[in-house]
Amino acid sequence: MGKKMKTWRGKSISVEMTEALGEAMGSVAVPGDVLTLDGDLGAGKTAFTRGFARGMGLRSRVTSPTFTIVNEYNDKDGVPRLFHFDTYRLGNSDDFYDAGLDEYFERGGVCVIEWSKVIEDALPEKRIRMEIEGNGDERTITVAFGEEDLSRMENVKEKMQEGGMGFEDTGL
Ligand SMILES: Nc1ncnc2c1ncn2[C@@H]1O[C@H](COP(=O)(O)OP(=O)(O)O)[C@@H](O)[C@H]1O
Ligand SMILES: [Mg+2]
Repeated sequence: MGKKMKTWRGKSISVEMTEALGEAMGSVAVPGDVLTLDGDLGAGKTAFTRGFARGMGLRSRVTSPTFTIVNEYNDKDGVPRLFHFDTYRLGNSDDFYDAGLDEYFERGGVCVIEWSKVIEDALPEKRIRMEIEGNGDERTITVAFGEEDLSRMENVKEKMQEGGMGFEDTGL
């Protein structure tokens, strides 16, 4: 994983809470961000992204890009702001490069990538990495990020704590 990353771990008890975490993260997103989302089918990756788009101020409702691989969300002026990937159907990073999908990293939007492990070697080193685990209504959501993202990620954590999300102490 290269240089040392910071980590926090929150517990979501409902789909609304996972969406609210997405919304909080989307509200601090900046162009060029890459955020990866891993976790089993039904973990809540798309639910998180639905909130994330809302947090970015985008109005279209996010749907799963399972068949399209990537969906693009524009702001009201038609400027692409969010690229939402689901790379489940790709075999590996060669498929990602062959389809020219790495060009999205240069387009000045935010990239959110579900099932990123499939294309791990095509991903930029600097990114926010999330894992969602659990079943029933409970999910454990782990977020790992670099030192440069510490202050905005702490803001997200505080906002979510106020909203009732529990966090495990990971030493931050
Ligand atoms: N705490 C939770 N967080 C996220 N989703 C939850 C939670 N509890 C139940 N769910 C349900 O799990 C499913 C998550 O689906 P989805 O977001 O499409 O998953 P993924 O994109 O990871 O396959 C939804 O049906 C949602 O209602
Ligand atoms: Mg999904």
